[in-house]
Amino acid sequence: MPERRRFEHRSQPAWVAMEDFLSEVVVKPDAALKQAVRSALDAGMPAIEVAPTAGKLLQLLVRMSGARRVLEIGTLAGFSTIWMARGLPQDGTLVTLEYSPDHAAVARKNLDNAELGDRVEIRVGVALNSLPELEGGEPFDFVFIDADKQNNSHYLDWAIKLGRPGTTIVLDNVVWEGAPLDTSLDPVNAPGIRSALELLGSDPRLDATVIQTVGSKGWDGFALALVT
Ligand code: SAH
Ligand code: DHB
Ligand code: MG
Repeated sequence: MPERRRFEHRSQPAWVAMEDFLSEVVVKPDAALKQAVRSALDAGMPAIEVAPTAGKLLQLLVRMSGARRVLEIGTLAGFSTIWMARGLPQDGTLVTLEYSPDHAAVARKNLDNAELGDRVEIRVGVALNSLPELEGGEPFDFVFIDADKQNNSHYLDWAIKLGRPGTTIVLDNVVWEGAPLDTSLDPVNAPGIRSALELLGSDPRLDATVIQTVGSKGWDGFALALVT
């Protein structure tokens, strides 16, 4: 399946029009957020950042949970990063892990432009190499997982390890147009997404649910979990 197109050709005009309306009327991304989206397009990155409505949800969850330390896996151009960092208190910090030095450079610019540069650390490298380096620090209060889907279960495990009872975890892209029901639809990503869903439902250290979504990003969803 031509992966990068999946979320575009399946997006129905009515969903997108409604989402644009919700974004403009309720969520209202400012110039720095709009610039982050534009910079990603200009740099030739895929338009796989969270929708503005989802970004605002992440920000509200960070605020509602009182998180002071946020971990993100998968930065891209820093769009979700900006939303979450803006939910932090004055002394809050965010660490975001990104494999691509090019993506990280664009994200750094966008975070500086949003005046969040001093609160956000971007660690460039394979996330599974960066995660062990974070051990021994203060626990993370909030973890957003949004990188390579094959490693979702490993990322959940690391989120638990680097978190504490009460840590909030959000795992993106868990519905993936229904492919977890028939993993042959996307043999690269769907098995990892499905295994992570099974882990969310069976690991006694997690209490979780999933919300399905439609909109500019097609038919997808995210998991919300609490470390118990
Ligand atoms: N969270 C972003 C979107 C992330 S897209 C937003 O909503 O704005 C996924 C990102 O994960 C890409 O930038 C990709 O380069 C990165 N990525 C993929 N595999 C990775 C890995 N193994 N380690 C770290 N980053 C990875
Ligand atoms: C893809 C990745 C994402 O994180 C996302 O939100 C949508 C699509 C992708 O790799 O196709
Ligand atoms: Mg995603």
